[in-house]
Amino acid sequence: MFRRRRRIQYKTPEQILKMRAAGLVVAEVHQAMRESAGPGTSTAELDRIAEAVIRSSGAVPSFKGYDIGFGPYPASICASVNEQVVHAIPSPDAVLKEGDLLSVDVGAIVDGWHGDAAITIEIGAVAPELTALREACEASMWAGIRAAATAKRLGGISHAIEHSVEDSGEYGIVSGFGGHGIGTEMHQDPHILNYGRPSEGPKLRTGMALAIEPMITLGSEDTAELADGWTIVTDDGSVAAHTEHTIALCEDGVWVLTAPDGGVEQLGEAAASVARTA
Ligand code: MF3
Ligand code: CO
Repeated sequence: MFRRRRRIQYKTPEQILKMRAAGLVVAEVHQAMRESAGPGTSTAELDRIAEAVIRSSGAVPSFKGYDIGFGPYPASICASVNEQVVHAIPSPDAVLKEGDLLSVDVGAIVDGWHGDAAITIEIGAVAPELTALREACEASMWAGIRAAATAKRLGGISHAIEHSVEDSGEYGIVSGFGGHGIGTEMHQDPHILNYGRPSEGPKLRTGMALAIEPMITLGSEDTAELADGWTIVTDDGSVAAHTEHTIALCEDGVWVLTAPDGGVEQLGEAAASVARTA
């Protein structure tokens, strides 16, 4: 969610195929996280497992060493628990407990091309309002992805996310942060707010690759940054959820590069035909 490039990089079908390879590595890490995260697991353990999965696939963790000016990020995942929204650094002291809501964000590079995606995981049995929060976040991400298939401009995606969150209940949409273009760098133009108007932003075109990532809270939309220079927490201490997929706009629909099924189940007709075959 930090902007690097100044213009949009349009990808060829061959380049999108390479991004799919990176996306599948990210999906594999998510599966490993779902299997490993439970009461008693530390987020440092999760990071070790994630890095092993990434490297054993011949990929490179994109977060490790990533520098936005405060020095290199030290891990392969961000593991954000409860009031931590995004970018929390894994730690042996961060031990998960029953009832926690964990967001795991993962990035991998294959052959120079990036995949970036996040899931929110329930640790043991969680309060019903946390399940609802997670589901609202996921639903808004899919609403944004679905809009990417039909909207004329980027703002159509932002607008769809915002409205989906509103339809789900009383949630704060984290302000300031959002999704991004992605390709030969993790963060490219355009920046994608999780709220906005359909008439705003650049035109959506075939060859765009975008990371769609809503972040919502049970309370305020405001956040603060911890002294470590990375961790973003909710201002009011309310619990947050974060979900992300990397998608590509293809000639005949959207390909969800970080979903094992390419997004076919969620998108139906809006999914690119290549998502069914590749
Ligand atoms: N998916 C996160 C984002 O788009 C990745 C953060 S990467 C880190 O911002 F290297 F900064 F941790
Ligand atoms: Co991202």
